[in-house]
Amino acid sequence: MFKKVIVVVMFIFMLASCKSPEIQNRLRKSFNEGWLFEKSKDSLALKVAYNDANWRSLSLPHDWAIEGPFKPEYDLRTGGLPIFGNAWYRKHFVIDASEEGNSITLDFDGIMNNSVIYINGKKVYERPYGYIGFQIDITPYINFGENNVIAVKVNPEELSARWYPGAGIYRNVWLEIKNPVHIEHWGTQVSTPVITKNNAKVSIETRIVNKNDNSRGNYQLKTIVYDAEGAEVASKISAFGFEKNIESKINQDLNITNPKLWDFNTPHLYKAVSTILKNDVIIDNYETNFGVRTIEFTREGFFLNGRHEKIKGVCLHNDLGPLGSAVNYRATQRQLEIMKDMGVNAIRTSHNPTSPEQLELCDKMGLLVQAEAFDCWEIGKTENDYNKHWDQWHEQDLRDMIKRDRNHPSIIMWSIGNEVREQKQKEGALIAKELTRICHEEDATRLVTSGFNSLKNAIKNGLAAEIDLVGANYKPTEYANVMEKNPDWIIYGAETASTVSSRGVYHLPLKDYDKHESLQVNSYDFNAPSWAYPPDVEFHFQDLLPNILGEFIWTGFDYLGEPTPYGGKDNFTHGNWHKDWPSRSSYFGAVDLAGFPKDRFYLYQSQWTTEPMVHVLPHWNWENSGVNNIPVYCYTNCDEVELFVNGKSQGRKTKGIDKTRIPVNFYAWKGKAKYFDSPYRLNWNVSYEPGNIEVVAYKNGKEVTRKKIVTAKAPSQIELVADRNTITADGYDLSFITVKIKDKNDVFCPLAGNKVNFKITGPATIAAVGNGNAASIEPFQANYRKAFNGLCLLVIKSKKGETGEVTIEAYSEGLAAKTIIIKTK
Ligand code: GAL
Repeated sequence: MFKKVIVVVMFIFMLASCKSPEIQNRLRKSFNEGWLFEKSKDSLALKVAYNDANWRSLSLPHDWAIEGPFKPEYDLRTGGLPIFGNAWYRKHFVIDASEEGNSITLDFDGIMNNSVIYINGKKVYERPYGYIGFQIDITPYINFGENNVIAVKVNPEELSARWYPGAGIYRNVWLEIKNPVHIEHWGTQVSTPVITKNNAKVSIETRIVNKNDNSRGNYQLKTIVYDAEGAEVASKISAFGFEKNIESKINQDLNITNPKLWDFNTPHLYKAVSTILKNDVIIDNYETNFGVRTIEFTREGFFLNGRHEKIKGVCLHNDLGPLGSAVNYRATQRQLEIMKDMGVNAIRTSHNPTSPEQLELCDKMGLLVQAEAFDCWEIGKTENDYNKHWDQWHEQDLRDMIKRDRNHPSIIMWSIGNEVREQKQKEGALIAKELTRICHEEDATRLVTSGFNSLKNAIKNGLAAEIDLVGANYKPTEYANVMEKNPDWIIYGAETASTVSSRGVYHLPLKDYDKHESLQVNSYDFNAPSWAYPPDVEFHFQDLLPNILGEFIWTGFDYLGEPTPYGGKDNFTHGNWHKDWPSRSSYFGAVDLAGFPKDRFYLYQSQWTTEPMVHVLPHWNWENSGVNNIPVYCYTNCDEVELFVNGKSQGRKTKGIDKTRIPVNFYAWKGKAKYFDSPYRLNWNVSYEPGNIEVVAYKNGKEVTRKKIVTAKAPSQIELVADRNTITADGYDLSFITVKIKDKNDVFCPLAGNKVNFKITGPATIAAVGNGNAASIEPFQANYRKAFNGLCLLVIKSKKGETGEVTIEAYSEGLAAKTIIIKTK
């Protein structure tokens, strides 16, 4: 409860001297290092004197499930990995005696899940939801100047999600030491209610707590706003006091002249530095990044800074592929870079609060975000779903998500849930109403949405009417109808496509939607489960109705778990997960689990980008396949493309999209190849002859770009390509090294499956290996990996404080080895 703001100076005299030494600034530092870990059920591990001498030592963030091993008895829906069980994390730490009197807090950005936290043997906190962050005030439990023990019990259950959630303290942990009078956790709320060309009004609400009754004095809150170059652009000082000595809420309005707007290509950020002064001495400080931008949702579409923009969005799950769920800044950044490359301008944090790092990166990279809270409400979708905690926790979890995230300029809407089962119930409307109210209470500047797969029911039962933006999942044929019947509603594709494919896999002759004994899916990209459809269908409806806000495709990246069409809900053997072992991760991504683009990546690029591009498929190694007639597909954003086979023109095709023509007979289609005929793709059928195929793309009659695929000879050498050759020696930074198998002429071998071994010398370790094969049970943490269709990935991680050269040797039987050097500094 906030007490009334007292903006005038209340305490003219210092009444009592504070027993704590005043500190200048708050100290915030990583609490990730020096933890001990044990998979154990022993409840005595909460005790200070517990013998943890033989426990494994590690640094956070940590996801034990990604360490494997894969086992057939683990559920494939959650990745075939040990995402459940009992485990303890312990850490011994000392807080200097001189800090006595200060406030000591710990921020956990997220623990997966059902965590209970003990300090010096006393239970201090528990939190079931794995995706939410929290702060604990541990001051009362600390023995200053002596050894302290924190013990964290983590107890995730099987099937706590419909995908791979990870397991453990998988996000960052921070220690803060601050004056007992300090700005609250998530204690600022910044909005920009008026933005003109010459001026932005910035309103900042700051909440300050007083944890020490004796702390009397003259208080001031000074807020300075800096631009991205560090220049001061606005400031304000307000005097305040504490009513009943507990809390204070201060509102300040500042003005930024000639504001630099936050936008896709110029994501300008401002920083508000809030300082508390007591008797003119700084006692606390707090930083808030924010942006100045306008967002508007209308029946005419979405507007960013007054400009109409289609949402070209992707749904992303929480995991980072072979690195598991353990948060990593660089891995998150790489994911988003790859998405931007595809033409993406928005992400949906399906289906849960995301990491603070991902939001920070979206702010910096100019990506829009739909921040989602839940995948279920009262009715669960899996055995141990969040519905178990709904009654007790949903309000706090939702409020906390918004309090944590509402200053991010990237966030444009809040989602209260994905495909909740309550769509089919009358009571669903009541819950939707409650959650929408909570969102509006916590943030009046953004609209609320939800993704409905049962749109008719969500409308009939009143859920759709309770939210601000109607998210339709897999219902492009309904957009026009719903808009027409509901003249106030705004609709968009909250989840679209769900096309499935495996990178580099081409099954010919083309067959109807089928499952393949290889546990792979054709990359011709017309395969999708019964509720879904190829990208082209959504393109068609979005093009037909340009005022629809846009779409969020399912998904940008492959993710662990939910291996539809194998072992998933579209699987005839539903309930018998062993049958499709070892298919263990999704086929939905436009990019595979290792971060390598599939063909579909280029199909989206052709629709979402303007820089001339052209892509052609399949590979050109059909000798010994028995297949002679090859469908060649080309994706481009240019006007016209000419295909050459061994230099012979196969004719030009024009892209001119006929908006009246539906790409597939949607109703008859259901994955049947014969109904597929998309104006978003160019297609030739040619006879196979080894050599090469080449596509040449033209704009206004002029050649602008081309792409060639050459028939490869036998694998003969390895190529290593690092995304970054110099990384920071901080124990977190990564270099992603793409391993390509090539023939003796340097031609990429699209079918190669050679096992590649790695030897690392110097200050780095192997963080993960992968290859994008959704049916591989090779470990992600190993010094080898089989190539999958010619590619695999090695991820190396720096060691903290160890600079120098890292030599990486890649070798494989029968292939010329390769060495690459990465510097850490
Ligand atoms: C949707 C669901 C997603 C994912 C997807 C697969 O219905 O919201 O989480 O399961 O289907 O197509």
